[in-house]
Amino acid sequence: MPKIKIVPAILSPNPKTVNEDLKEIGPYSDLLQVDVMDNIFVPNKTPQAEQLKILDTKIPLDIHLMVKEPSDEYLMGFIKANPKLKVNNITVHYEACSNIKKTLEFIRENNIKAGVAINPNTPLNSIRNILDKVDIVLVMTVEPGFSGQGFIKSALDKVTELRKLKPKMDIEVDGGINEVTAALAAKSGANMFVANSYIFKAKDKVKAMKKLRAAVG
Ligand code: DX5
Repeated sequence: MPKIKIVPAILSPNPKTVNEDLKEIGPYSDLLQVDVMDNIFVPNKTPQAEQLKILDTKIPLDIHLMVKEPSDEYLMGFIKANPKLKVNNITVHYEACSNIKKTLEFIRENNIKAGVAINPNTPLNSIRNILDKVDIVLVMTVEPGFSGQGFIKSALDKVTELRKLKPKMDIEVDGGINEVTAALAAKSGANMFVANSYIFKAKDKVKAMKKLRAAVG
């Protein structure tokens, strides 16, 4: 089983407070997910690559692109936006890319881990033939677009199946993660846990992160 990673997610962060928040949660975070939305693939829009310019953190980034047809140039925008940041991975949606292999290859060619995300209704079979091209599979446990939604438990069947196929792969879950749902996802074989509201809406963010880690450890 690969290493457990706790991944706080930011979505249109407030430039005035984000770096203070990151300082506080940094020591407890394995990666920081930056959620990016285009109002085409999902019905919501966030700032694009320019938002990385305001970030001041050592937490390596997990960039989740909920974006239709991200071009090489578009991807490069995230890679080059802020040389002080470390980009660990860029994750693109299977449903949003007409040539997913090419997109994943481009990410890897730039020495960045490539992730593929699948929506709750997308079967695991759709990505079976590209598993050798990815470092991370993100199994969405809500419909992408908004934070604060309820966890879709049936998505965990894909986690169970994928863990059997790929014992060493990073399997990430995202959407409706709290200490209860994270424990269920961990039992199914997930090792990366993304959370926005559970952490950022908590009175004590660090306490929430510790609880999350304890639930999956
Ligand atoms: C969903 C986003 C998630 C979101 C999770 O569209 O991809 O990353 O930030 O938010 P919570 O943890 O509130 O479900």
